[in-house]
Amino acid sequence: MMHFKRFMGIASVCTALFLSACNGDGDSNSQQAQEKPQLQPIVIQGALPIESERMASKLDSVTVETIGGWTFWKGSYKGYPMIISKTRMGMSNSAAATAIAIQHYQPIAIINQGTSGGHDPDLHVFDIVLGKYTTNIGAFKTPYQPINGGSNSLTWDEAFDVLPEDESDPEPIAIRKFEGDPALLVAAYKAKANYSKGQVVEGTIGSADVWNNELDRINFLHSTYGTSVEEMEAASVAQIAYQFKVPFLGIRVLSNNITNNGAYDPATGEACQDYVLDVAEHYMKAKTETK
Ligand code: 5AD
Repeated sequence: MMHFKRFMGIASVCTALFLSACNGDGDSNSQQAQEKPQLQPIVIQGALPIESERMASKLDSVTVETIGGWTFWKGSYKGYPMIISKTRMGMSNSAAATAIAIQHYQPIAIINQGTSGGHDPDLHVFDIVLGKYTTNIGAFKTPYQPINGGSNSLTWDEAFDVLPEDESDPEPIAIRKFEGDPALLVAAYKAKANYSKGQVVEGTIGSADVWNNELDRINFLHSTYGTSVEEMEAASVAQIAYQFKVPFLGIRVLSNNITNNGAYDPATGEACQDYVLDVAEHYMKAKTETK
């Protein structure tokens, strides 16, 4: 019997530093930066260049830092401190990039964003899913089959929880869903007004090191885990952010949806980056006002 565990990241982290008053021309981003109370940076992740480089190109005063195999662009956007992180693809890469970012930059929050494949036939290419929940769809315990018994993934109905409260149980069976941070969701709703390329809806993001093209398998995941979309990073990032108590939200644009013949469109990667920069700006503005 499966049961659901829901967790919410708590508490934002911020400094109490104020920058000194500025001079010079009225509208520059650098002046905005100096006038605002200084927050810790927000980290926005994208796995691939088409999911990260547009955001990086929009930062002011940018410096590039490479740690191991991971690239971080450090700068500001509309005066707010921001780190754009290229995680590379998959669960391990994104977990490592997240742990490094948290240790190195002490971010106020993390957004994992990028492209995804639809599991819900009502969603279309260019629609955006806000991860009310994010869950690992690649961890399960399979039923026993003898030699020559074959393999049928539609019977893999026991989800494996890799963060059990009781670690003495070697077979913790549960679907773990990481809840999106409420304040990041509020910012995402504010940004929704400016996104005209598709719908913006709340849903469940499912992650695994798998690209599913079997419609029966997709339907199974959609009905068992309630997934709106699948991709390869967000649940891994959520798992690390949760353990460091850093607010997290997954935001995924549909770049493809084989449940309704939605053909892959790489332009979705740029559309999502523009939307997410808007989300980050709203979030940092709200944090500045409550500081
Ligand atoms: N299935 C899995 N990953 C997908 N991605 C886009 N569409 C899909 C899909 N249908 C994303 C992943 C990964 C890269 C292959 O693109 O997150 O980074």
